[in-house]
Amino acid sequence: MSFLLKRLSQKNSWNKVFKQRLTEPFHLNVIALFVFIFGSFRKKVAYDLVIRPQHAFGLLNAADQAKLRGFNEITIIEFGVANGAGLMNLIAIANKVTKETGVKIHIYGFDTGEGMPEPIDYRDHPEYYNTGDFPMNKDLLEEKIKGKATIIYGPIKEKVSHFITNISKNAPIGFVSIDVDYYSSTKEVLELLKAEATCFLPLTYVYLDDIFMSHHNEKCGEMLAVSEFNEEQPRRQLSYHRFFENQRIFKNANWVKQLYYFHVLDHPYRSDLKRDRKAYVLDNPYLKFEGNKKQFD
Ligand SMILES: C[S@@+](CC[C@H](N)C(=O)[O-])C[C@H]1O[C@@H](n2cnc3c(N)ncnc32)[C@H](O)[C@@H]1O
Repeated sequence: MSFLLKRLSQKNSWNKVFKQRLTEPFHLNVIALFVFIFGSFRKKVAYDLVIRPQHAFGLLNAADQAKLRGFNEITIIEFGVANGAGLMNLIAIANKVTKETGVKIHIYGFDTGEGMPEPIDYRDHPEYYNTGDFPMNKDLLEEKIKGKATIIYGPIKEKVSHFITNISKNAPIGFVSIDVDYYSSTKEVLELLKAEATCFLPLTYVYLDDIFMSHHNEKCGEMLAVSEFNEEQPRRQLSYHRFFENQRIFKNANWVKQLYYFHVLDHPYRSDLKRDRKAYVLDNPYLKFEGNKKQFD
């Protein structure tokens, strides 16, 4: 609670609350107040009442999906750790998701440990970010996350290929947060998404942090790296799900437009032609004919 109050005392957070939350229907905010006081963790995720709702949504849905596919463990990754606020938030949320679902969550972070590398050119948005921005208080952070998450230090391009060879197929990747700011760094991150299909859930959630500011666009930064990836990898697609917003109770939050679906089209799950289930039967209220419930997972 004190953490929440501290967040609300920051000007940016108030801006967010006013522009993204209080512009939502009044009755939904009243219901949210009750959910905040009495609601379960799952309800709080649905009502965007968890700090960094993108993490809460991503982890909970990845864990639910993993369970459906028969996994007891998943892996999640944050690219760009800096002083670890995002990573520590992921640790706290992962604990709650594990309590809720029983799915164990392995957490990794990637960072130089020394702040931003040199930008290559305008595509890295040097107007926003500078070499050495976002350094890390390494000792303090390591002490706090010990045994809960692992940070892999160094330039991502040097570390990601080794990481790929060690991904456990029993704990597929279900959520990735990309918060490395640059086009060039995002290109390095997206090498991960070329790993063997079974290293991932067939639908993996990817949060793109750096796409919402005025100078961000399709020809620079994270979005450029994503569109190049999609062009080069026809059976791996990172796409914005156009109905995602419709599925959320609160629709104005930025994160709803930053959460992408990573479709692993060459995943065996997506080509399994012999599914062992009863045929779906559609009902017809005009004929008073009831079918069975259609369940797409
Ligand atoms: C905005 S900060 C991350 C903030 C963090 N996610 C949070 O929630 O507090 C971006 C980080 O990305 C890291 N980074 C950017 N490019 C990188 C690269 N090519 N290799 C490793 N780390 C990189 C920087 O060191 C920096 O700490």
